[in-house]
Amino acid sequence: MTWCDLWKDKLSRDCSYQGLYSCTVVLITGANRGIGLELVRQITETQKPLSKVFACCRDPDGPKAQALKALAEKHPDVIMVIRMDVADPKSIQQAALQVGSSTTEQMTSTFNTNVIGPMVVIQEFLPHLRAAAKVHGKPGMSCRKAAVINVSTLGSSIELAKEQYVQFKLLPYRTSKAALNMLSVCASVDLQKDEVLCVLLHPGWVRTDMGGPNAELDVQESVQGMLKVMESMSEKHTGALLDYCGHTIPW
Ligand SMILES: NC(=O)c1ccc[n+]([C@@H]2O[C@H](COP(=O)([O-])OP(=O)(O)OC[C@H]3O[C@@H](n4cnc5c(N)ncnc54)[C@H](OP(=O)(O)O)[C@@H]3O)[C@@H](O)[C@H]2O)c1
Repeated sequence: MTWCDLWKDKLSRDCSYQGLYSCTVVLITGANRGIGLELVRQITETQKPLSKVFACCRDPDGPKAQALKALAEKHPDVIMVIRMDVADPKSIQQAALQVGSSTTEQMTSTFNTNVIGPMVVIQEFLPHLRAAAKVHGKPGMSCRKAAVINVSTLGSSIELAKEQYVQFKLLPYRTSKAALNMLSVCASVDLQKDEVLCVLLHPGWVRTDMGGPNAELDVQESVQGMLKVMESMSEKHTGALLDYCGHTIPW
């Protein structure tokens, strides 16, 4: 059994793994008061990870929507208030359009953080990396010499997505991390002449705000593992995607 098979086997057995990859998007109608408002409040404050709550009401600017507005201001990344009268098909169509454009915005913002951000960080810090490699003097590559470590995820794997995606959605996250993988592989080729190592690491499923409370590892275990892997890396590993135990993740 290959390591990849082990992962697939693990994923199919371990339903709790859904915690990391399930993309929770909720749409609530009549969200400005009563049960609808409390649903928005409790879902926003207790469900992790949570991508978006679309809180729909007939009059978002009216006096009956003030509590919802205040809640949305407290959680601007999560709650989006949308005008929708369920007795009016046109207003339902308008609301659906807003939800669609919000998905596009989410994709853009995730790419900004996970792809464009790392690209600019590498570009801007390149002189420092080159200087560090030069000062080190010895041939080869290592983290002690000069290295870029981009944190990717098992969810970036295109091969595994064929099976995982049905269960674990999170489209912007997956696509942006797959793009980060490509960015890092290309950077590893560009940085080769400067002997700067460039590797992608998957930290495991970790109990953080992102990983949620049911994740397998605490941050100490994950970081301990990643540091051990980093310590052992050489020019052989540049351009690789490894997990926190040093196993190669299939592209
Ligand atoms: N947790 C897991 O199970 C898991 C699994 C696979 C991969 N990962 C990867 O591991 C990395 C860390 O995840 P985590 O679990 O530690 O997540 P987390 O608890 O949600 O922390 C995210 C961190 O990223 C920072 N951040 C977000 N956007 C940023 C930006 N635009 N510029 C600078 N910093 C920004 C946050 O800072 P603020 O506090 O300022 O927002 C925070 O420090 C991520 O790349 C994630 O994809 C995590």
